[in-house]
Amino acid sequence: MSKHSSRRKFIQKLSTGVIGAALLPEALNASTVKTEKINRSKSRSVNDTLQIALIGAGGMGMADANTAITVPGVKLVAACDLYDGRLAAAKQKYGNDIFTTRDYREILNRKDIDAVIVATPDHWHKDISVDAMNAGKSVYCEKPMVHDITEGNAVIDAQNKNKVVFQVGSQGMSSLGNEKAKELLAAGAIGKLNYAEGFWARNSPGGAWQYDIPADGNLNTVDWKRFLNKYPDRPYDPKRFFRWRCYKDYGTGVSGDLFVHLFSSLHFITNSKGPEKIMAMGGLRYWKDGREVPDILMGMFDYAETPEHPDFNLSLRVNFVDGTADSTYLRLVGNEGSMNVEWDKVTLTRNKAYAATDDPLLSTKLKDQKYVYERKHMVPPDTTVFKAEDGYKGAHYDHFNNFFTAIREKKTVAEDALFGYRAAAPALLCNDSYFADKAVKWDPVKLKVVS
Ligand SMILES: NC(=O)c1ccc[n+]([C@@H]2O[C@H](COP(=O)([O-])OP(=O)(O)OC[C@H]3O[C@@H](n4cnc5c(N)ncnc54)[C@H](O)[C@@H]3O)[C@@H](O)[C@H]2O)c1
Repeated sequence: MSKHSSRRKFIQKLSTGVIGAALLPEALNASTVKTEKINRSKSRSVNDTLQIALIGAGGMGMADANTAITVPGVKLVAACDLYDGRLAAAKQKYGNDIFTTRDYREILNRKDIDAVIVATPDHWHKDISVDAMNAGKSVYCEKPMVHDITEGNAVIDAQNKNKVVFQVGSQGMSSLGNEKAKELLAAGAIGKLNYAEGFWARNSPGGAWQYDIPADGNLNTVDWKRFLNKYPDRPYDPKRFFRWRCYKDYGTGVSGDLFVHLFSSLHFITNSKGPEKIMAMGGLRYWKDGREVPDILMGMFDYAETPEHPDFNLSLRVNFVDGTADSTYLRLVGNEGSMNVEWDKVTLTRNKAYAATDDPLLSTKLKDQKYVYERKHMVPPDTTVFKAEDGYKGAHYDHFNNFFTAIREKKTVAEDALFGYRAAAPALLCNDSYFADKAVKWDPVKLKVVS
């Protein structure tokens, strides 16, 4: 009997009351709508202070640093950015005595720094991460791990060669919600997985990356040449610098920005290495501000059967002109139910269609008796909501805690370079598919574009 059909039998037994309540997985032993608390072992050892530096002190970099220093024994001692206003803000926030620079190599040369957060635009992730690991630093690199599909192996190699801790910053990876979803899927709570979907809906200038451009941003306060990295030289353009997501040389479009979170979570929950076929479609429908990437994108993905999971399809979309606005979503669907996965909550919904028709006892009665009393069954709950306990510090804290624990206790992280590359690759290949107007085949084991 396959793993999946044995799970199905297990759930069938549940519906006919064959298994006692005490034996039910926690997931299924619940009243019609039930809210349970998700627990996590709290044992974490805290040793010496870890000194960290922030490279890229913009919106997410500051959020990362703010969270990182709430982990006990972590101190921020330096910050690097290419815009002086950001360095001034970092000093204001973390103290005048922190070291600041426009050149990240000055941070890497410092012996007193154990780890760096890389929260620059995407086109700098690979170079800074590799240089930092070669300098012996542990690295927390924001997602997507790389800007281009060809860059992944360099990061994996640097991690392996230097034996330092490298974590990609898709914080949902370390969340209670993802852990619960993984456990539920393995317990057969939705039967056999056949489909997953996710979306991001936004409907505001900020949501669509039209960030404010500081009035004092100019060639004196911005290191424009360094920002460009290996990409074409051009005159200073504040839109390109402060709204870099809109441009292909620096950003990775909506898929690299947002799909990548959904890939990380999905791959964690299903133990998947990734899809084999990727196809994207979309368009620039509204935010026609000179951007080079679509504001609506749909991706379709084919996941082949592996020892870890059955074959299934994934559908993802981002809409920056969505009247339903400000919602996001990841749902896994199986033949017996579905679950919506959030970082602090999982909503499991089970369908009941199998309950009466699969009951062998009922068909026997139909044969032998004239009058059949079709007595109803006890059925398991339709919907079970698992919620994090009050006071949960959240996925972001967990992800940093995971990172610092790995450094201190020489443990593995939730999202290392190999995992990070496998999460980034299908997101980046969405862009390749969209711009080339064709499906792309990817080998997630060998990490190679097939065609
Ligand atoms: N994990 C998440 O939920 C999440 C959320 C938002 C952003 N991000 C990621 O974080 C990264 C930063 O995004 P953001 O929204 O903070 O952008 P941002 O523009 O607000 O900040 C980027 C900062 O990097 C600086 N910078 C550019 N090149 C640099 C270099 N070579 N050295 C040092 N500093 C440099 C810029 O001056 C800017 O201040 C992106 O990769 C993004 O995908 C992750």
